[in-house]
Amino acid sequence: MAEHLYIFDTTLRDGEQAPGYSMNLEEKIRIARQLETLGVDIIEAGFAISSPGDFESVEAISTAVKDVTVASLARALRKDIDAAWNAVRKANRPRIHVFLATSDLHLQYKLRMSRDEALERIRENVAYAASLCPDIEFSLEDATRTDRDYMCRVVEEAIRCGATTINLPDTVGYATPDDIRSMVEDVRNRVPDIDKAVISMHCHDDLGLGVANSLAGIKAGARQVECTLCGIGERAGNSALEEIVMAVKTRPDLYSVETGIRTEELYRSARLLQSTTGVKIFPSKAIVGDNAFAHESGIHQHGMMANSLTYEIMTPESVGVVKTSYVLGKHSGHHAFRKKLEELGYILSDEETQRLFGEFKKLCDRKKNVSDRDIVALVESTEQEAKKTWTLESFVVNSGNKMTSTACISLRKGDKVYEGIAAGTGPVYASLRAVEKIIHHPFSLEDYQLSAVTENKDALGEAQVKISDSDHIWRGRGVSTDVIEASILACLSAVNRMLDGESASIDGGKSAVKLSFENDMLMGHTDKEEEYSDDND
Ligand code: KIV
Ligand code: ZN
Repeated sequence: MAEHLYIFDTTLRDGEQAPGYSMNLEEKIRIARQLETLGVDIIEAGFAISSPGDFESVEAISTAVKDVTVASLARALRKDIDAAWNAVRKANRPRIHVFLATSDLHLQYKLRMSRDEALERIRENVAYAASLCPDIEFSLEDATRTDRDYMCRVVEEAIRCGATTINLPDTVGYATPDDIRSMVEDVRNRVPDIDKAVISMHCHDDLGLGVANSLAGIKAGARQVECTLCGIGERAGNSALEEIVMAVKTRPDLYSVETGIRTEELYRSARLLQSTTGVKIFPSKAIVGDNAFAHESGIHQHGMMANSLTYEIMTPESVGVVKTSYVLGKHSGHHAFRKKLEELGYILSDEETQRLFGEFKKLCDRKKNVSDRDIVALVESTEQEAKKTWTLESFVVNSGNKMTSTACISLRKGDKVYEGIAAGTGPVYASLRAVEKIIHHPFSLEDYQLSAVTENKDALGEAQVKISDSDHIWRGRGVSTDVIEASILACLSAVNRMLDGESASIDGGKSAVKLSFENDMLMGHTDKEEEYSDDND
């Protein structure tokens, strides 16, 4: 019988650490709920000690989800373990994930400690974590470059001290599938009580081998894989959850494991990540990219018509790519609109449906055919709305190749309308300056992206912006058939978040704390000093 493969999702920890993927509390909770719906076994919700924002989100996720284990990462330090435990203790199924590097390279240069010192620290801290929480994972950071004899000693001791999961990360994405197989086999053959723990893989993708390595680990006996939606993560990323899950599902002849993943939720989960972070999924991304199931070549199309198995190893429906039955237009009513939303997988409240229906009707006045992708864009653009302190009343923009652009913008706040006029080198710049003048809160534009939702000339334009004031960064998104309007709407949604306060920022105010924490991580002697002072306490 197929054994259970535990899916440990670290989108909100390893993934969120990657540049461009920061999320605010509300966004993290939304992703966590979707991960629960997707059916992952464990959500690594963050690194509680790393910042007050991380602590708060791990704690909030612990109570927001019910049917999934919630983990927090912790260095092998008491204060980290205490923070992790305090953040996850309210979860139905809490886990503390303790790690320490074990390769000589990391021990010598990062931690500045001997193998024996590291082993002692692992014993002490795994035992301490196990005294608080029944579910303890221990990770040997940089396992794939760790001496095998030492690795086996560490694993044996970690299990003896209470670790129930042993993670063997390929931290720097250096290993090949053969290395992984021999590593897992060695640990399984040489560690006496290895059956008391689940072996886990955590493979980074620096050589593009993350998923292949995770699969090699599964083949050799690992029964947990750590992965992220779309493979986001440090540097080149982590292993993509959707790829691992669909690989083991599509090839039961090779992998005798089953997961609890509702694969029809994969596409929606990836879309949610995209709409939340604003980072586009590459069109040819396996499983969830827009082209993953598109067959352009005539030969392929012919084969597909004769028998879809000729070129399709899994169906789009099996990963949640929906083909809906009808197109909406100007004459479509509320009922048809609601039905379409349901077909697309959105079950919304009456109030939300009503509001979106209003937006849909406005869109029909500007665009003849409203496609499914337009509707998804509408839903996604309103999904993440902050309090709407400022709304757009009207705008006029003048722009040309032989003139300075000017923008005249009217914004509403409560029952008052304010007007701002500004010039700039382009229409977007002029518009954002006019907004800045009205709201009297300076901000800088950190990032700006504009894309078309569909291919046609009358396509909806989608603008994504990131703005910052002196301390924080906020994201905003706007959708319109007019790209200047989309840009102003995106800016206003970011501005509203900025005025909403720190909790809506995507760095949660952690940049300063994080920096000093990172220094801690790099400076092994700092850790040691802390350890000594802990000892002395
Ligand atoms: O890549 C890594 O080694 C990690 C550990 C902290 C599990 O992310
Ligand atoms: Zn990692």
